[in-house]
Amino acid sequence: IIDYTGMMVSEQNSKGFAKEDLLGLQSKLDEAQTNLHALRDSGKLDFSLLLPEMLAQLPELCAYADEVAAKFENFVVLGIGGSALGPLAVQQALNHYYYNELLPDQRSNRPRFYVLDNIDPVRFKELGQVLDPRKTLYNVISKSGNTSETMAQFLIVRDYLRHFCGESYADHIVVTTDQQKGNLLPIALKEGFKRFVIPSGIGGRFSELTPVGLLAAAICGIDVEQLLAGALEMDRRIRETKGVFANPAQLKSALSYLSWQKGKKISVFMPYVDGLKTMADWYAQLWAESLGKRYDRTGKAVSLGQTPVKALGVTDQHSQVQLYAEGPDDKVITFLTLEEFKDTQGIPVDSALPEDIQFLGGKTLEELLFAEQKATEYALTLAGRQHQKIILSALTPFNIGQLLLLLEWETAYMGELFNINAFDQPGVEEGKNGTYGLMGRAGYEAKKQAIKEFGQE
Ligand code: PA5
Repeated sequence: IIDYTGMMVSEQNSKGFAKEDLLGLQSKLDEAQTNLHALRDSGKLDFSLLLPEMLAQLPELCAYADEVAAKFENFVVLGIGGSALGPLAVQQALNHYYYNELLPDQRSNRPRFYVLDNIDPVRFKELGQVLDPRKTLYNVISKSGNTSETMAQFLIVRDYLRHFCGESYADHIVVTTDQQKGNLLPIALKEGFKRFVIPSGIGGRFSELTPVGLLAAAICGIDVEQLLAGALEMDRRIRETKGVFANPAQLKSALSYLSWQKGKKISVFMPYVDGLKTMADWYAQLWAESLGKRYDRTGKAVSLGQTPVKALGVTDQHSQVQLYAEGPDDKVITFLTLEEFKDTQGIPVDSALPEDIQFLGGKTLEELLFAEQKATEYALTLAGRQHQKIILSALTPFNIGQLLLLLEWETAYMGELFNINAFDQPGVEEGKNGTYGLMGRAGYEAKKQAIKEFGQE
């Protein structure tokens, strides 16, 4: 459910949108829909197009996942950006919050799960100190097969595994990369690593529902079939529905576009569920990397994009919400909530307590959380601040699949409304190339020289 009451004009908030504002965008949205369908028909909107193919690949992927889950105690993803945030977000959303701390039989004898994305040497070493390499499977995920961070970690782990596991080191590495390109592929082929393919047309941040995320999810016991079923259902709905009030991606993108036009340069994504905290990281990458663009499609300099901010309810009610309510009116806030938590926690009654605390007794933590969320909505509305809410019935694989697709489609629609390419990331590539230069990769000498002259070395 998308509850957008807080975005609209009301008795308490005269600054909201009117229905006509949304309807006024309909022709632009129809044009966006036509363009996106044309892109899909020409085989280029892979995040949507590939879903049935991924479903067909599940038996092989799940068979491998079951096989390795029975063999290994630990499973570590080595990847960064789009090759790390999706696996992390889905695992945290759907598994026990303290999954790694559970006893093996409490997590259905599936391996513990870790993601090494950043290259902080201390964290890297310290994880090595707590994991026995002989009992660990590493999934190296890199679409380009070139990313310095991932490749560096891979080289260290490979060396380490050779040392501890001898000849069988290759059984501890599974590679997820492009079918044809990149430096990881020839190494994987030569050394005999198990391999999964990232379909060539798909960008990292849109790749969660490919083997990038599906393998990690399946190894950790998540029902990947349901994840894809939810995604397919949302995908179908968005492709087949017309009209801003019926099509969820049109509605979400219209609200985002109008808010951006009204000067809301910041988009706050605020789950009220701890398990969805890393979903905010995933969203932030999707929104920032897809929509932050210097040029539009005609080559005109535009400098577009809305800055994503990650927040967590209720924690950030005690920090950032002050700014949202009383600071600059440049933010639009999206809450992400549940109708029902998978568990409940009562608060004890104690009639000996002072009356001002007694009111909590007999209630539940979720009642308190829902009340705080509602009160925050109200306070923001009174302050004239716009907010909306995505409500999931519960944290299930089906609903998470739907959520991922909704946000991916909304981003694609925003790309059309902005008339930019939402699927490239030249700003990120520039940084990657600079790193190659500074680290001495052949072919990047000019980049190194340019940075030296700029004075950064
Ligand atoms: O969305 C993207 O394209 C990026 O965030 C990439 O996922 C990230 O840079 C990692 O790239 P790769 O998977 O090629 O190692």
